Amino acid sequence: MGLVGSIVLCLINIALAFSLCLAGNCVNSGLEFSYITASPLGSPQEVIAVNGQFPGPTLNVTTNHRVIVNVNNKLDENLLITWPGVQMRRASWQDGVLGTNCPIPPNSSWTYQFQVKDQIGSFFYFPSLHFQRAAGGFGSFTISNLSTVPVPFNIPDGDIEILIGDWYTRNHKALRKALDAGDDLGMPDGVLINGKGPYRYDTELVPDGIGFETIKVEPGKTYRIRVHNVGVSTCLNFRIQNHNLLLAETEGVYTFQKNYTNLDIHVGQSYSFLVTMDQNASSNYYIVASARFVNQSLWQRVTGVAILQYSNSQGIATGPLPDPPNDVYDNSFVVNQAMSIRQHSSASGAHLNPQGSFYYSSIILNDTFVLKSMPPLEIDGKLRYTLNGISFVNPDTPIRLADKFNLSGEYKLDFPTRPLTGPPRMDKSAINATMGYGEWTENSSTSYNLTDAIYRCTIQVFPGGWTAIRVSLDNAGVWNIRAENLDRWYLGQETYMRIVNPEEKNTTEFAAPDNVLYCGALSDLQRYNNLSLFTFRNVQNNH
Ligand SMILES: *[C@@H]1O[C@H](CO)[C@@H](O)[C@H](O)[C@H]1NC(C)=O
Ligand SMILES: *[C@@H]1O[C@H](CO)[C@@H](O)[C@H](O)[C@H]1NC(C)=O
Ligand SMILES: *[C@@H]1O[C@H](CO)[C@@H](O)[C@H](O)[C@H]1NC(C)=O
Ligand SMILES: *[C@@H]1O[C@H](CO)[C@@H](O)[C@H](O)[C@H]1NC(C)=O
Ligand SMILES: *[C@@H]1O[C@H](CO)[C@@H](O)[C@H](O)[C@H]1NC(C)=O
Ligand SMILES: *[C@@H]1O[C@H](CO)[C@@H](O)[C@H](O)[C@H]1NC(C)=O
Ligand SMILES: *[C@@H]1O[C@H](CO)[C@@H](O)[C@H](O)[C@H]1NC(C)=O
Ligand SMILES: *[C@@H]1O[C@H](CO)[C@@H](O)[C@H](O)[C@H]1NC(C)=O
Ligand SMILES: *[C@@H]1O[C@H](CO)[C@@H](O)[C@H](O)[C@H]1NC(C)=O
Ligand SMILES: *[C@@H]1O[C@H](CO)[C@@H](O)[C@H](O)[C@H]1NC(C)=O
Ligand SMILES: *[C@@H]1O[C@H](CO)[C@@H](O)[C@H](O)[C@H]1NC(C)=O
Ligand SMILES: *[C@@H]1O[C@H](CO)[C@@H](O)[C@H](O)[C@H]1NC(C)=O
Repeated sequence: MGLVGSIVLCLINIALAFSLCLAGNCVNSGLEFSYITASPLGSPQEVIAVNGQFPGPTLNVTTNHRVIVNVNNKLDENLLITWPGVQMRRASWQDGVLGTNCPIPPNSSWTYQFQVKDQIGSFFYFPSLHFQRAAGGFGSFTISNLSTVPVPFNIPDGDIEILIGDWYTRNHKALRKALDAGDDLGMPDGVLINGKGPYRYDTELVPDGIGFETIKVEPGKTYRIRVHNVGVSTCLNFRIQNHNLLLAETEGVYTFQKNYTNLDIHVGQSYSFLVTMDQNASSNYYIVASARFVNQSLWQRVTGVAILQYSNSQGIATGPLPDPPNDVYDNSFVVNQAMSIRQHSSASGAHLNPQGSFYYSSIILNDTFVLKSMPPLEIDGKLRYTLNGISFVNPDTPIRLADKFNLSGEYKLDFPTRPLTGPPRMDKSAINATMGYGEWTENSSTSYNLTDAIYRCTIQVFPGGWTAIRVSLDNAGVWNIRAENLDRWYLGQETYMRIVNPEEKNTTEFAAPDNVLYCGALSDLQRYNNLSLFTFRNVQNNH
């Protein structure tokens, strides 16, 4: 089965290479999503593999490359793949969320095509529908610098991808069922590191026979370790025993370089650390990702442990794990740590001019939205999460598609700029945004520190706190704003920003791709040949 899968993909790749990827600066990939059985926490369960692997393979491209990804859906339900942080310049059609794309049905494939314009950095891809990310389907997405634009550090001796995330032994369908029934998902069953369960650092907490991740390194070398939290909802504290983590990049922006002994990584966030193997290799070292903002003694099992192994290691890792931050009585610790992540303003990112040449303080603001997140509540007898009192319901016809066909009534543009005071509701409310510039006047803005403020796609909001985000709307289309915590997102904590260019012609946005899928009110337009059904198997039979 696995072998058939990879041969099928090769054929697809070759076909695409001739039909679509003639020019250079173009990368072709085939990603096939299917179920496999794995036992990351000891007992067998169904997980979503990509090309037979769990986690999926890394997509590795270079700035300005055109990327062509043929996604094969071999699951038993609809699929869309999204790439948060990878700016789909002028192409919200490729963003892989329900507001822009009709889903890819089972037993069919769809080709994404976009350019990673003016971008570098570390991201990941994942399935955006039906809680599928809780079952896998994720992988790293790396955009390398152009050869003419140097990175702001010595070239690392290697690149290491680490995907961390909380994990349930129930599959995504069972988790969905629980949420639909109004139940809380409860404590996760563990934390996976690169799809594997914990090293047996404690014989009482960790059962025997669990496969764990081992990262092999050479003494004295420096590696770029890219860490992504691909989990459901748990913030994880990441640390490597006895090793400093020199923070260098986050989601596409080089950061002010600072050593951390540990860093909180929230769901959806990605970081690059430069780690030098400067220890004496008297033993292996623990790599730890442990649950944060929870009662540690109750959540002990929600801890991921992998092994860092020097090639000259003298023995196994033993003893207790390195400590998490002890800040139970110090609320300022987490906020200070988050605030310490600043942009490296003199480094060049995707092109030669410095990242810092884009000054936040010069963004003049036209609109201000206060997005208020409240605890879950019941609406129409269902447990829902809201933003400003509205729990989002996806329209049957994606917003972008409805716009293209001038369909009215599919969605509304009435998302409130301030939290509703009336009763919460379920609705198809999106934000009506126009590209342009204006003036920001709200008083609290005087307290912002805009010097080297970080530029990123996933930002935490601490309980009882607030986070200010400034967005320059320079990308027409329909864009998702959501809680990255999967349970909140699933239960409606999202909306879309419909960004229109007020100028004469909508030239800032690409036309809909030729292979655009139709659904909802436009289902009748779906032609069979738009959707490549799996006829590839026959091709395979001919060989
Ligand atoms: C990714 O691509 C870059 C540029 O081609 C290359 O230097 C690097 O080794 C690749 N990384 C991986 C993990 O394949
Ligand atoms: C997908 O194809 C398989 C094998 O041909 C078939 O058993 C299955 O029913 C199909 N699934 C759907 C949802 O059509
Ligand atoms: C990135 O920049 C470095 C110089 O800092 C260069 O050596 C390297 O080749 C560049 N990467 C790619 C993929 O060209
Ligand atoms: C970070 O720590 C390493 C030792 O692990 C040290 O060599 C380096 O100078 C530190 N860098 C910064 C910017 O503090
Ligand atoms: C190696 O480093 C560890 C941790 O810093 C230290 O406890 C140990 O004594 C060192 N061993 C040797 C042989 O230097
Ligand atoms: C954490 O849980 C333990 C065990 O139930 C309990 O004794 C302790 O009081 C809890 N700690 C806090 C801070 O709630
Ligand atoms: C630009 O596109 C949007 C969305 O399709 C549409 O509502 C708007 O009227 C268009 N603007 C112009 C000037 O054509
Ligand atoms: C939608 O309306 C615009 C402007 O009125 C028109 O140019 C366009 O042809 C319409 N599109 C469709 C699919 O009817
Ligand atoms: C959306 O915003 C534009 C420009 O500000 C305005 O002309 C239009 O009436 C708004 N649409 C709705 C439905 O509020
Ligand atoms: C934004 O505000 C500025 C200044 O108040 C105004 O000139 C501009 O028309 C506004 N832009 C939009 C799109 O509303
Ligand atoms: C904003 O500041 C002005 C002048 O200092 C003050 O009059 C006003 O009440 C403030 N508004 C809020 C919402 O605090
Ligand atoms: C603002 O941030 C900069 C850069 O991180 C820092 O040097 C400065 O001290 C900060 N200013 C205040 C008032 O915190």
